[in-house]
Amino acid sequence: MRDESPATSVRPRQPEAAAGATAVAHPNIALVKYWGKRDEQLVLPCVDSLSMTLDVFPTTTRVLLAPEAADDQVSLDGAPLAGEPLGRVTAFLELVREWAGRRERAVVDTRNTVPTGAGLASSASGFAALAVAAAAAYGLDLDATALSRLARRGSGSASRSVFGGFAVWHAALDAATPTEADLRSFAEPAPAHGLDPALVIAVVNAGPKSVSSREAMRRTVDTSPLYRPWAISSRDDLSDMRTALARGDLDAVGEIAERNALGMHATMLAARPAVRYLSPPTLTVLDAVLQLRRDGTSAYATMDAGPNVKVLCHRADADRVAQAVRGAAPQARVLVAGPGQGARLLDEAA
Ligand code: DP6
Repeated sequence: MRDESPATSVRPRQPEAAAGATAVAHPNIALVKYWGKRDEQLVLPCVDSLSMTLDVFPTTTRVLLAPEAADDQVSLDGAPLAGEPLGRVTAFLELVREWAGRRERAVVDTRNTVPTGAGLASSASGFAALAVAAAAAYGLDLDATALSRLARRGSGSASRSVFGGFAVWHAALDAATPTEADLRSFAEPAPAHGLDPALVIAVVNAGPKSVSSREAMRRTVDTSPLYRPWAISSRDDLSDMRTALARGDLDAVGEIAERNALGMHATMLAARPAVRYLSPPTLTVLDAVLQLRRDGTSAYATMDAGPNVKVLCHRADADRVAQAVRGAAPQARVLVAGPGQGARLLDEAA
């Protein structure tokens, strides 16, 4: 990890700033989960996490400065945002303006290809794309570390979507102060060798989740007697995962990912009141994954804040795994993802 001061990482680009910018980012799926914040305002997590950025479901976001406007205007897939989702985006833009020393409001147009709020990491791709586009539009010249820190403030998991492939997000638990932790909590690429992985995604329900991950996380940390033991065991999961990735051991990667995810869901089931994202079709797909393993195929499941299942396997086995999942859950939309690229600006005239 590197220590950084804002002075080296956050530089307003001088003299002229772009009037607008467009960025694209992809969701990521955590193999060691982020679940629980120790500082909600700074979005500082209770645990380190590690993910794979996908090559499907991109989010494209255009940020155009609107010097005459009194308020930010934000639309998602052509429909204006209002209420809490709008508040989250405008709070994020305020932060960007603070970093840039600027005041102009912005017009933000976001196109999502991932179902929003369904536990398919739409906030990860969303805030990673917004961070990259807004930083450029407001004339901030940020390196990848600073972009990751910025994206984190919009949504924790977005810190990892700044990077392609595998990324580890540092919790910076040993930081002496929140300010130091804020500087040291960012994602960076995690070395992996000799892996050709796929994630078979079973969308068993594309509808928005009943409880937001933000609220579910808060409730779990505050009330679940299983939260602390999971957070402690997650440290071993992270270091075991790094070793497994570095030696390209897909079975070890999968086993760790599956146990970490099931443990996370156990913490939620023990929250008061319980948060249960897993539904009957989720369990049917989990059974199919067990059967695949019994039949000799390396396949391991992970689930986020929703009922949808992502099955990690060798890319060479992905079609067979997808077929087994379709057979088990005929109503599910099943698609195959591979490792994708990090968030980036699209080349276009402002
Ligand atoms: C279950 O990043 O959506 O997907 O920081 O409150 O926006 P906020 O939460 P978010 O939570 C993601 C939780 C998870 C696990 C993970 O991606 O690590």
